[in-house]
Amino acid sequence: MTASSTRTGAAIVEVTDLHKSFGSNHVLQGLNATIKQGEVVCVIGPSGSGKSTFLRCINLLEEPTSGSIKVGGDEVTDPDCDIDAIRRNMGMVFQQFNLFPHLSVLGNCTMAQMTVLKRSKAEAEAKARENLEKVGLSEKADAYPAQLSGGQQQRVAIARALSMDPKLMLFDEPTSALDPELVGDVLSVMRRLANDGMTMFVVTHEMAFAREVADRVIFMDGGVIVEEGDPEQVIGDPQEERTKTFLQRVLDPTHVDAGAEDAAYAKRHVGEVAADNFVKPADTHGHYSGG
Ligand SMILES: Nc1ncnc2c1ncn2[C@@H]1O[C@H](COP(=O)(O)OP(=O)(O)OP(=O)(O)O)[C@@H](O)[C@H]1O
Ligand SMILES: [Mg+2]
Repeated sequence: MTASSTRTGAAIVEVTDLHKSFGSNHVLQGLNATIKQGEVVCVIGPSGSGKSTFLRCINLLEEPTSGSIKVGGDEVTDPDCDIDAIRRNMGMVFQQFNLFPHLSVLGNCTMAQMTVLKRSKAEAEAKARENLEKVGLSEKADAYPAQLSGGQQQRVAIARALSMDPKLMLFDEPTSALDPELVGDVLSVMRRLANDGMTMFVVTHEMAFAREVADRVIFMDGGVIVEEGDPEQVIGDPQEERTKTFLQRVLDPTHVDAGAEDAAYAKRHVGEVAADNFVKPADTHGHYSGG
C-alpha cells in the first residue's frame, strides 16, 4: 500500500484566504490549504514566493494580516486562543538547527519537555533517548552540538521536536544548510517519520524527496498557490506555465536564468556569506535532480 492511500484523516490545519503583508509588500495573497492527519504536504516554489512566511503563519511566528488558520479546530488568530497550547502540538525544524550550544544532545532534547510539559527528568530522558534512537543518534546523547556534523545536529533538532509529542511537524528547508553528503541521512529520518504516520508540512527544494514522500505538493509563486496536487502530477506533469518554468530551473540548475534567483536566495539565507560568493547547492552538487 502506498503512503498516500492511507491518508484519509481529519483536517489538522485549515487555512482560509490567508494574507500577509510586510509594509507594502503583500507577501501572501489569499492562500487556502488543508493538511489532514497523517498527510505529508511539501511546499515548493522560487525564492521569495512566501513559503517560509506561510509556514511561519501556521504557528504564529508571523501574524497573518487577514484570513483564518485553524489548527485542530482552534482559530489561531483568535485573540482568546491559547497559542502556547496550540504551538505545543507543532514541532518546528528550521534550516539552521538552533540547538543550545551549552547543552548536551540529551539536554537539548529534555529541556522543553521539563520546562513546558513539566515532565520529570527521568521521563524526559527516556523520551529523548527513544527519539534519539529513531534518528540514529543514541550514541551521541552526551555529545555537544559543536562536536556533531550539520546532519547530526539537524537530526538532534528533529529528535528534540519529536520529544514534545507533536501532532504536526513543520519543516522549513531542513536540508538546505547541509553539505550534500549529509542530506541523505536527514531525508531518511524524515521519510521514516512519514511512514510512521506523522503529519508533516515541509518546505523543501528536494524535488526527489517531495516526489517520493509527499502525499500532496503545493507550488507557490508570488504569494499564491499556483498549482497543487499529487506529486506525480505537480512535479512529473505540471499544468501551469510558472510551475514548468520553476521545475525546469531546479531540475536543470545550469539553466541560464538561475543566477538572479540564486543571488536572492543567498541574500535571504546566508547572511554571513557575501551573496556574490554564494553557490547554491544545486549548482555544484546536483541533488535537486530528482525528476
Ligand atoms: N520578517 C520580514 N520582514 C519583512 N519582509 C519579510 C519578512 N519575512 C519575509 N519577508 C519578505 O517576504 C517575502 C517572502 O519571503 P519568504 O521568506 O516567505 O520566501 P521563501 O519562499 O521562503 O523564500 P526562500 O526560498 O528564499 O526561503 C520576501 O519578499 C521577503 O523579503
Ligand atoms: Mg524560506
